[in-house]
Amino acid sequence: MLKILFYDTKSYDEESFEKKRKEYPDIQIDYLKPTLGPSTARLAKGYEAVCAFVNCNVGTKTIEILHERGVKLILMRCAGFNNVDISMAKECGIRILRVPGYSPEAVAEHAMGLALAANRRIHKAYVRVRENDFSLTGMLGFNFYGKTAGVVGTGKIGAAMARLCYGFGMKVLAYDKYRNPALDFVNYVELDELLAESDLITLHCPLTDENYHMINRETIRKMKDGVVLVNTSRGGLVKTEDLIEGIRARKFFAVGLDVYEEEKKNVFADRSDEILESSVTARLLSFPNVLITSHQGFFTQEALSAISETTLGNAMAYVRGETTGNEVE
Ligand code: NAI
Repeated sequence: MLKILFYDTKSYDEESFEKKRKEYPDIQIDYLKPTLGPSTARLAKGYEAVCAFVNCNVGTKTIEILHERGVKLILMRCAGFNNVDISMAKECGIRILRVPGYSPEAVAEHAMGLALAANRRIHKAYVRVRENDFSLTGMLGFNFYGKTAGVVGTGKIGAAMARLCYGFGMKVLAYDKYRNPALDFVNYVELDELLAESDLITLHCPLTDENYHMINRETIRKMKDGVVLVNTSRGGLVKTEDLIEGIRARKFFAVGLDVYEEEKKNVFADRSDEILESSVTARLLSFPNVLITSHQGFFTQEALSAISETTLGNAMAYVRGETTGNEVE
């Protein structure tokens, strides 16, 4: 029997995993609400595996404690793993498995949703009409049809977003070190050209040391005036202070963010009764052309079902000593 301790679980996680677990009688799961970090890692004593999510702290100290408590497997129930100290895990002989592509369309459709809503000010209209205010001042958007989309990173999600943009009648530019041969309608260019030519820039590359703050004062300066920027990838790709400066300078027509640097404390939490001492999020939300969602790009029925299936499949592959292609190394 493989015992797995789940961290950072919400009711919808438990529901989705319990539905699938019936097919895996050799797996026992205990669900915890707290997130994984140095102060909660000790709870994993007696568990061979832990399961973590995007905002868990799976850094050096956490892994050290997990190792001391006998954990041999970390199951990431997400695609990204920038929050994991891979070399420390290797040193401790802990295997890490993830869910590389549970539903690229879920995230891409959310990215397009953000782009459309922010451009057409649907977030403003929703509030305005509720107050019987049917005026249109400040609501003027622009057509995506015939414009240029710039997709940064054309892996699974970027490719899905490129297809959506193409379907909208947009010309699609892309920047990636590796070209995706399936995207024959995309024109691969250097990043500078993509920044200069695109009316919609959408980020779909993973966060690495190399591309941390890739959207900064310098790169924002290279963008077209009136550009729409969407980030559903990782907050660290955008230097928020520089983004705010750009918004104030009227560089952006609209900005849609599902991820942002300060999200760790916010994501999936109800903080509506708190007074926030300092908040970049609040500053961003003060702009009428900025729309923020709470890291929910992945949050569709199809994606949750695929996440539980692959995570439990990963767990069984570990039990059987098999490789899956989902290893983080
Ligand atoms: P993927 O691994 O299929 O594709 C990533 C692509 O980015 C690859 O083609 C890679 O060559 C490219 N890339 C790497 N560094 C780059 C750089 N500096 N500039 C341009 N391209 C670069 O990953 P996938 O599944 O498409 O996911 C992308 C990212 O989306 C994940 O790393 C994760 O951060 C984010 N994500 C967000 C979710 C959400 O709920 N908002 C859910 C799932 C993923």
